[in-house]
Amino acid sequence: MAGMSERSRNLPRRSCLSVPGSSEKMLAKAPGLGADMVFLDLEDAVSPLEKESARDRVVRAINEQDWGETVLCVRVNAWDTKWTYRDVIHVVENASERLDELMLPKVQSAAEVQALDMLLTQIEQTTGRQSRIGIEAQIETARGLINVEEICAASDRLETIIFGPADFAASTEMPVLTGGVQIPEYPGDHFHYVFSKILMAGRANGLQVIDGPYLKIRELDALRDYAMRTRILGYDGKWALHPDQVKVINEVFTPTQEQFDRAFDILEAYEKATVEERKGAVMFGDEMIDEASRKMAIKFVSRGERAGMTRSAS
Ligand code: GLV
Ligand code: MG
Repeated sequence: MAGMSERSRNLPRRSCLSVPGSSEKMLAKAPGLGADMVFLDLEDAVSPLEKESARDRVVRAINEQDWGETVLCVRVNAWDTKWTYRDVIHVVENASERLDELMLPKVQSAAEVQALDMLLTQIEQTTGRQSRIGIEAQIETARGLINVEEICAASDRLETIIFGPADFAASTEMPVLTGGVQIPEYPGDHFHYVFSKILMAGRANGLQVIDGPYLKIRELDALRDYAMRTRILGYDGKWALHPDQVKVINEVFTPTQEQFDRAFDILEAYEKATVEERKGAVMFGDEMIDEASRKMAIKFVSRGERAGMTRSAS
C-alpha cells in the first residue's frame, strides 16, 4: 500500500484538460480528446447547486469510461468551503484504482496539503486501495505564492504544482477582468516573477510544474504565444479548457524534431568523450559540451519520448 509507486507521477502532462463534473456530455467526451491529463472538476466549473450530484457523475465517469493512458484526476473543492471532506471521501471511496490523483485548489499553506494527505491515508487503509492517490496543488492566491516552497515540500504524494492565473489575478487585485492573458500596456510579462517562483519551488522538490488556463478560448494563436512563455521557462504543460486548446498545447510542449535529434547527438558525443576519450568536456560542432549539456539533453529526450517521438534516421 503506502510507498507503492504511483502510476502517474512520471507520465506527461503537456495538456491538462478541465472537465466540469456536472456535465454528463463533457464527461463522456473527455477521454477521446488527446489530453495527457484530464481532471474532472468539482470546484469552480460546477455550480454550488450541482456540487453534490457532481460527485456521483464523476465517480461513474472514472469507473465506466475507458481512460487509456491519460493521467486521471479529480479537482475537489478548497478547504475554505464546506465541501472538501465529502468530495474526498465520496470520490476516493467509490472510484476505482484508475483514479490517479486529486487536485487541491487555492492551496495557501503546507498544512492544507498535509490534511489532505492524512485523510487519503485513512481512506486507503479503510478501503484496502492498492495504489496511492497522488496530489496536484494549485497556487492561486497571494498567500499560496508566499508559501509555495513549503507547499511543494509538504507531502510525498505531490506530483505537480500548478499556477492558477484567474484566481491569482483576483487574489492580488489586479485591475483586469481576464486572468492569464497578455496585458499589452505592461512592458514585459506581468507574471514573470510568479512563473519563476513556482517553477523553482516545484523543481527543487522534483515536481512537474504546470501553467493554468488561457481563458480566451477562440484565440488559438494568442494561446500558442502565451503558452510559449512558460514552455521556455521550463514548465511541463498547461491547462486546456476546450478540445481546440489541447492540440495547440500538446504541440507547444513537445520538443521539435530538430531539438530531439540534436539532444540524442549530444548524448552520443558526450558518452564517447567521457567513456572512450576519458574527457569531461569536448567540442560538439562549434560549441563546448559537458555534464550539464548531458542533463539538458536528457530532458529533451525524455519529454520527446513521452510525447511519442522517435529519432530521425541519420
Ligand atoms: C484556475 O483554477 C485559475 O484560477 O486560474
Ligand atoms: Mg482557480
